[in-house]
Amino acid sequence: MIHQYIESNQDRFLKELFELLRIPSVSADSRHKGDVRKAAEFVMQKLKEAGADNVALMETKGHPIVYGEKMIDPRKPTVLVYGHYDVQPPDPLDLWNSPPFEPTVRDGKIYARGACDDKGQMYMHIKAFEIMMKHSLMSCNVKFMIEGEEEVGSDNLGTFVKENKSKLKADVILISDTSLISLDQPSITAGLRGLSYMEVEVTGPNRDLHSGVYGGAVANPANVLSKMIASMHDDQGRVAIPGFYDKVAELSSAERKTLNEAPFDLNEYKKELGIDEISGEKGYTTLERTGTRPTLDVNGIWGGYIGEGAKTVLPANAHAKISMRLVPNQNPQEITELFTKHFLSIAPKSVKVKVIAHHGGEPAVTPTDSKAFKAAIQAFREVWGKSPIPTRDGGSIPIVALFKKELGLDTVLMGFGLDTDALHSPNEHYGIKNFLIGIETIVAFHKHFGKS
Ligand code: BES
Ligand code: MN
Ligand code: MN
Repeated sequence: MIHQYIESNQDRFLKELFELLRIPSVSADSRHKGDVRKAAEFVMQKLKEAGADNVALMETKGHPIVYGEKMIDPRKPTVLVYGHYDVQPPDPLDLWNSPPFEPTVRDGKIYARGACDDKGQMYMHIKAFEIMMKHSLMSCNVKFMIEGEEEVGSDNLGTFVKENKSKLKADVILISDTSLISLDQPSITAGLRGLSYMEVEVTGPNRDLHSGVYGGAVANPANVLSKMIASMHDDQGRVAIPGFYDKVAELSSAERKTLNEAPFDLNEYKKELGIDEISGEKGYTTLERTGTRPTLDVNGIWGGYIGEGAKTVLPANAHAKISMRLVPNQNPQEITELFTKHFLSIAPKSVKVKVIAHHGGEPAVTPTDSKAFKAAIQAFREVWGKSPIPTRDGGSIPIVALFKKELGLDTVLMGFGLDTDALHSPNEHYGIKNFLIGIETIVAFHKHFGKS
């Protein structure tokens, strides 16, 4: 019945999602402030239409949070659905095969910024809710909290959660903002990495200099920065910041074994990325490297002349944005301090160095023996005819650790995207199949969780 309803309504579901995808709700770009609000209003409207109560835009210092709820029975368990309606900037624009904010279907996939992360995945919950309301299938109370600042660090959501603990009272958090292994092998994410995001600036002489007149006699900030960055990994691929690994929780050999039982095709992985060889910390598999090991990566690096042709110049300064992905039990503040101290200590006297900390977030692992996790397993078994396996994702959703800390709630990360969906990249996409089966699986989750 549910399957049928989804099938006969899929054109409308997609039409609605496309309308949301057309709104360029780029949270990082202040020029899109109005669009971000438009997306919030769209979500609010759709929650109302589906039958939610107390639907409201909750103002914050930044972009608004959309709240809505349906309380059917105080004795029933309550599911708090979290998602985000903001998206990453679409740049670089010229690499898109169709415009990022004009959703286009090719090969059964929706191409648009936010198609998977997270508009497409978040919208599945609103449609699942519509279905449950239409067919009197509500077996849990449900609350929605959809934010517009996930891609910029969720600072104001933290405050909102702390100030609205009773409003957000629930039994579990449900999020679809992660990946599964494939449409043939479902999985549930049981761990996410944390994040420390830094920016560094290396300054040399008081102006750009002629690289012939001064080159070789004055420190070149771009050379110095490159050398400093290169020194931050040892020849084992480990991060060379003193103390960086002190708190890292090592997995037991049983945990490692389970993790590596997940299907993974290294040749397919390399082929899909167009690389000849993989690279990373010695002694760990690719799944371990992305799921369970901390990293340090340059996200952007600039300085000097990058225009057309050649200009002989010794730049006055050079910059880099550097992210560190963290694992239990690393603490983002501590890692930020270790980085800062180390980076300043390795700077030669010939330059000045400035370190700025951007946002961060704690890593999270979720229990795999809770009632909610078991309900998620049941849901996959019922809809996919297969048992999902627990995995660890490399990305971050900092709010998951905060939910645990502030609300005492565990999260179920029931994501339906694929790692290859090009999140944050040009040509982001989301499979229509993933979208539709996701809706069905979410309905099944509510059913099973309501029984528990
Ligand atoms: N949905 C992603 C996180 C994600 C993607 C987790 C794929 C697991 C698999 C989320 O929107 C995101 O991009 N988070 C940021 C962190 C944030 C603080 C900007 C990230 O991981 O870079
Ligand atoms: Mn996301
Ligand atoms: Mn994202």
